Amino acid sequence: MNYHIVTYGCQMNVHESEKIAAILQEKGYTTPVDTDEDADIIVFNTCCIRENAENHAFGNIGNLKKLKRRKKGLIVAVGGCMAQEAGKAQLLREKFPFIDIIFGTHNVGELSSLIDALRERRKKQVSILDARKETEDGITPVRTSYPNAWVNITYGCNNFCTYCIVPYVRGRERSRSAEVILKEVEGLVKEGYKEITLLGQNVNSYNSDGQGGMSFPELLDRCAQIEGKFRLRFMTSHPKDFTRELALVMRKHEKICNLLHLPVQAGSDRILSLMNRRYTREKYLGELKMLRELIPGCAVTTDLIVGFPTETEEEFEETLSLVKEANFASAFTFVYSPRTGTKAAEMEGRIPEDVSKDRIMRLVEAVNENTREMSKEYVGKVTEILCEDYDEKKGLYLGRSEEGRMGYFTSEKNLIGEFVNLKIDRANGISLYGTIV
Ligand code: SAH
Ligand code: SF4
Ligand code: F3S
Repeated sequence: MNYHIVTYGCQMNVHESEKIAAILQEKGYTTPVDTDEDADIIVFNTCCIRENAENHAFGNIGNLKKLKRRKKGLIVAVGGCMAQEAGKAQLLREKFPFIDIIFGTHNVGELSSLIDALRERRKKQVSILDARKETEDGITPVRTSYPNAWVNITYGCNNFCTYCIVPYVRGRERSRSAEVILKEVEGLVKEGYKEITLLGQNVNSYNSDGQGGMSFPELLDRCAQIEGKFRLRFMTSHPKDFTRELALVMRKHEKICNLLHLPVQAGSDRILSLMNRRYTREKYLGELKMLRELIPGCAVTTDLIVGFPTETEEEFEETLSLVKEANFASAFTFVYSPRTGTKAAEMEGRIPEDVSKDRIMRLVEAVNENTREMSKEYVGKVTEILCEDYDEKKGLYLGRSEEGRMGYFTSEKNLIGEFVNLKIDRANGISLYGTIV
């Protein structure tokens, strides 16, 4: 039997889908497929971070109505953050009565028993959305992203940034034990994975519940001591908790990539405070200065939001000027999207859509200009790339530099999973093109 998993949202969801795949395989759905028509079970792993993420999922689920009628025995399951959101499971049931299973972010592991219940009792619909407190689910993910592998270090978030729904749909921050994480990383390196990314909504607050057994810098230090040639990355760091100690660990180990993803969100102190980010522009820029003094050339990427309630033109321009000052290698840019249940959704002073659109366009241009300028610096130099994939359309292999730059090149041999030295011939936007040397 075949399964199709449709994933929306962040890297954590992508990794969770690898666990969902493991559950499905154990249930006898042995073969992954890319289309709904070929599937015996379709699982939507949803996201609700912004309204368009939800609309996207609603659209795709709605499209299944006919197929579901035509294909008896097809199971449709909806899980993830949107399913966990207050009131959404009910709405999904009403809008799409053909959905068989609804499960949340807390009970991925229970998908197995939900499928059993559906098969045995022939119930029309089953769902469980209760919170799960433990951090270990005993599932070995079916990893599909060789040579990269993701490893959760924390689940949930305690920060309650006023725009963000994550704390409501992922629950309180829980740390996995360092011992378990180290074993997992060690195992992955032994299996041949070449890039390990440690995942958490705020990795810097790892062990805030005392369940980890050590701080994040210590954990990272220990991971980097594992033998073998591999790269280490981590995501996401919150600027309020970024420390010199962490920067020193990054500097100490060759294996830890010289890239820090440090979402700043906005350049104005008044907006940062309304967002409950708990740092100022000055503190943020101070952290970058400290980092770059310790690790010259360390790339920094970020997330930015425009159109937060009451944001003025001047305040938006402070975000623009921060992009220049911070010299970001790249950035994810978003228009603020009100999320029911969050504090910001109750705030007055919504920014009209046309104003937000104008701001996001100007912001994207500023970010791209910076990225293009930085790309030029690679031309003529040799950069190490971890080959990750083959681009059929371009007929080129591709991979990333340690700073996260995409590099394309030709090769007769399949080099996926190998490190190659690339002499960069030209740059196009964020992408680099080169020749193996
Ligand atoms: N835990 C991470 C990121 C979580 S979500 C962190 O704190 O940085 C990824 C990004 O989505 C956020 O950094 C933010 O820029 C954006 N985001 C979150 N909620 C949003 C909203 N309601 N509207 C627009 N963008 C949002
Ligand atoms: Fe959301 Fe803030 Fe937590 Fe990130 S740190 S997940 S933006 S609440
Ligand atoms: Fe990730 Fe979206 Fe959930 S960004 S944590 S999948 S709301």
